Amino acid sequence: MSKVSIHGAWSSRLIFIFAAVGSAVGLGNIWKFPYIAGEYGGGAFVLVYLVSVLLIGMPIMMAEIMLGRRGRQSPVNTMYNLAIEAGQHSAWKYLGWMGMIAGFMILSYYSVVAGEVMAYIFRAASGAFTNQTPSGIRSIYSDFVSDPENLLAWHTIFIIVTMAVVARGVRDGLEKTLRILMPLLFVLLLVLVGYGLNSDGFGEAVKFMFQPNLEKLIYTVNDNGVQELTAKPILVAMGHAFFTLSLGMGAILTYGAYLGRDVSISHVTLTIVIIDTVVALLAGLAIFPIVFSHQLDPAGGPGLIFQTLPIAFGSMPGGTFFGALFFILLFFAAWSSAISLIEPAVAWMVESKDMTRVKAAVWGGSIVWLLGIASIFSATGTTLRDIFITLLDWVGLETIGLKQDFFSLTFFEVIDFATANIMLPLGGMLTAIFVGWVMHRESVRAEINVRHGDLCTLWMTLLKYVSPVAVFIIFLSVIGLLG
Ligand code: TRP
Repeated sequence: MSKVSIHGAWSSRLIFIFAAVGSAVGLGNIWKFPYIAGEYGGGAFVLVYLVSVLLIGMPIMMAEIMLGRRGRQSPVNTMYNLAIEAGQHSAWKYLGWMGMIAGFMILSYYSVVAGEVMAYIFRAASGAFTNQTPSGIRSIYSDFVSDPENLLAWHTIFIIVTMAVVARGVRDGLEKTLRILMPLLFVLLLVLVGYGLNSDGFGEAVKFMFQPNLEKLIYTVNDNGVQELTAKPILVAMGHAFFTLSLGMGAILTYGAYLGRDVSISHVTLTIVIIDTVVALLAGLAIFPIVFSHQLDPAGGPGLIFQTLPIAFGSMPGGTFFGALFFILLFFAAWSSAISLIEPAVAWMVESKDMTRVKAAVWGGSIVWLLGIASIFSATGTTLRDIFITLLDWVGLETIGLKQDFFSLTFFEVIDFATANIMLPLGGMLTAIFVGWVMHRESVRAEINVRHGDLCTLWMTLLKYVSPVAVFIIFLSVIGLLG
């Protein structure tokens, strides 16, 4: 197998870490984690997420980096080649395909949210939040997301800047920017946590995030007000471990393909996981004190960050500056994540479809842009039922009873659930099975270079048994086969 990838190589270990952290740290940590933790009741949910990161996420991240570095190609071709090398069926390449498709689906809504972040840079800089009440802040947000043309414009801009970097090549496009901006984002989050520390909601926020209450984790209240057992919060917490670490679709695998032979995979993994987790927890500690000191609803949904942080910016000294800076940095975090969502597909088009990077980026960007339009209508509150009714109306049919729960979801909710909670865990489970059971032991050991024998055994055990079984059991319980 070739020693370097045709797409280039990272110039140092540190650059790989920056790129991988850039991929991992993004809207998932700062926008998504707080709102899903809020929706599923805090403490116990956060605990399941942390355990999943440690026992499922870490070993699978090591596996993906290892696979990428051994295969040196896009996920589709890497899986194909490594399956053949192990004397197995070439159908393993479809794992790469599922990942590419998941990447397109995730990026389609990710880009819409990143567009909202961009728009908020200007909202913050113009002083729109200064001395606003929480309800004023809320109506700024709801006015904003009820304007599809505006959202479309920002979505378009975000896709263009993302594809511009992807077209140039990930390394040249990213290295320098990330070095400065990522540490800055970290510092600014600390400032926001410091602001929360001085508010009266801080104690309650800490309690909310870290005091596990099992009830919120395994019960849901149905439409008739009756409590029912459910495994969904556990699935969502585990799914988020994959999402936030960029696992299960080949992004980290692709970055691993550009990584040097001498780098310790376990060390870089540990670094990436720690930074990613700390950023998510800091984001929670910045947002929830505002929620509780203003009696807002922690289960406020995807708009949570846009309805809470501006309250802080509106009342802190220098808030116009800090607010604009925060959304600028969040935009960069989203940008570096978005790049990794499309890189596997672009690498594949260059390898197998004989395209230039530019052409591949244009193709990829166009597909994502089109898909994203569905999520724009979700932001305005349009559900599948609304779309269905409109379509039926067009063809002149009466609306039949569309009562099922499914139809009351938005496109965004369906895509988010299908990717984060089904495709990524499934992809991760198959990756674990491939490395744990399918590849030859010697190939794995030769590539992973974990010098400590016990650590390597622990990793293998987690991959062979713990990750696949955990994902499988959680899937079964959500389908309802486990009572
Ligand atoms: N991890 C990123 C975030 O938390 C999003 C992301 C980038 C991602 N690449 C991915 C998610 C690959 C799943 C798979 O914002």
